[in-house]
Amino acid sequence: MKMIRVGMLGLGTVGSGVYKILTEDQSQIQSKLGCRVEIAKILVRDKKKFRDFSVPEDILVTDPKLILEDETIDIVVELIGGIDPAKAHILKAIENGKHVVTANKALISQHGDEIEDAAQACGVTVRYEASVCGGIPILSTLQEALSANRIQEVFGIVNGTTNYILTKMSNEKVDFKQALEEAQQKGYAEADPTSDVEAFDALYKLLILAKFSFNTQAEHSLVYREGITNISINDIQYAEELGYKIKLLAIGKESDGQIELRVHPTLIPKEHPLASVGDAYNAVYVKGSAVGSLMFYGRGAGSLPTGSAVVGDIMYLVNHEIGNGCHIYNRPAAAIKAFKNMRDTKSTYYIRVIVKDIPGVLGRIATVFGKHSVSLASIIQKDVGSDQVPIVFLTHETLEGNLQNAIDEITDIPEVHTIGNIIRVDHL
Ligand code: NAP
Ligand code: HSE
Repeated sequence: MKMIRVGMLGLGTVGSGVYKILTEDQSQIQSKLGCRVEIAKILVRDKKKFRDFSVPEDILVTDPKLILEDETIDIVVELIGGIDPAKAHILKAIENGKHVVTANKALISQHGDEIEDAAQACGVTVRYEASVCGGIPILSTLQEALSANRIQEVFGIVNGTTNYILTKMSNEKVDFKQALEEAQQKGYAEADPTSDVEAFDALYKLLILAKFSFNTQAEHSLVYREGITNISINDIQYAEELGYKIKLLAIGKESDGQIELRVHPTLIPKEHPLASVGDAYNAVYVKGSAVGSLMFYGRGAGSLPTGSAVVGDIMYLVNHEIGNGCHIYNRPAAAIKAFKNMRDTKSTYYIRVIVKDIPGVLGRIATVFGKHSVSLASIIQKDVGSDQVPIVFLTHETLEGNLQNAIDEITDIPEVHTIGNIIRVDHL
């Protein structure tokens, strides 16, 4: 029976899941492929490190050349993370004629083009299903099953850590800091949680999703990004009173020949299916021109769920590519598409303003909104008469630029202490 030899770089959370699936489920994988897939070598930093599963020490290596330059290895699986040395290792593997699978969203969202150009030049394939939403097979679905559609909109809860934090804050009314600590204890957060809570991780995933949805290549600077560190229990409670949940959404839309990409906390109606996606789960809601609305839900992180996507990519390569030359996962269209400036996007807004409660202050704020064509849908003011009172405004749909102009002017009203928060509302 033919043997496919895999060299794996990294044996952490995802690497161990891949190792377990390929060793413990070898017979069903073999029966589907008609050949054996063997993990021949694994690159680690420390061979002696304690691992809570058994792996033969003789397949562990600390010198990447022993994998990248081994002519008997067909597929290199990169699960180290980060840019250096992951990028150099992948480029070397490609140069040496090996197909590559990676889960590295930071690398693919920033250097995907360079890597795919190199793969094309060398006639090998790079796949990275696990890089977006772990176990949810969203990239291959967009690429294959939904290829008949023009994708109009994509809304994703693509970061498990922030979804866990927001769910915890909403259900148990614990503050942001405590919820983050629990997310870290459960192993959802990246080593540096800034990437999760400031929405860089979600931005990386949105860039990859946008490439598969809109067939174009966007850069980081084209995406509006806002994390969840400014969300307070107050915002969550006001949102609930108004009939919404707060979620960190990665949003991509194509309309009128322009692409809009943004990641930010968003109020979504309580009854929308995305509102019920709790804990560390991920979900992607897609609107296609022919199929209409679809939602994909599942585990976006973790050893076995992410391992499932990586092994799926390995099996795809064995089925479609080994011996059959080059297949680039998704080459962007040659046509350059226009990207919308954030000020030209439209949304409904939740705005919490902290004011000194004296007669006329509400009227002054409302007048400024009116002057900038921002129409108000509802207002909540509970406390009265004190020096620091929150007033919550919900607007009708308006241009971001008009809203920002109004906010600049409202900030200058002497009785306005501060803008507590501005959160976009999406009715999807
Ligand atoms: P991890 O647990 O930190 O594991 C990293 C592994 O890489 C470790 O085995 C480490 O070796 C090895 N390593 C790190 N730097 C190395 C170097 N310079 N040379 C050789 N080996 C090195 O990371 P992970 O959570 O599995 O994530 C791997 C990738 O998957 C990342 O790109 C991440 O963004 C992506 N991803 C992760 C998840 C998830 O649920 N964790 C989900 C989707 C995508 P030692 O074992 O010797 O320390
Ligand atoms: N830290 C990431 C998350 C891991 O919370 O979703 C999966 O990419």
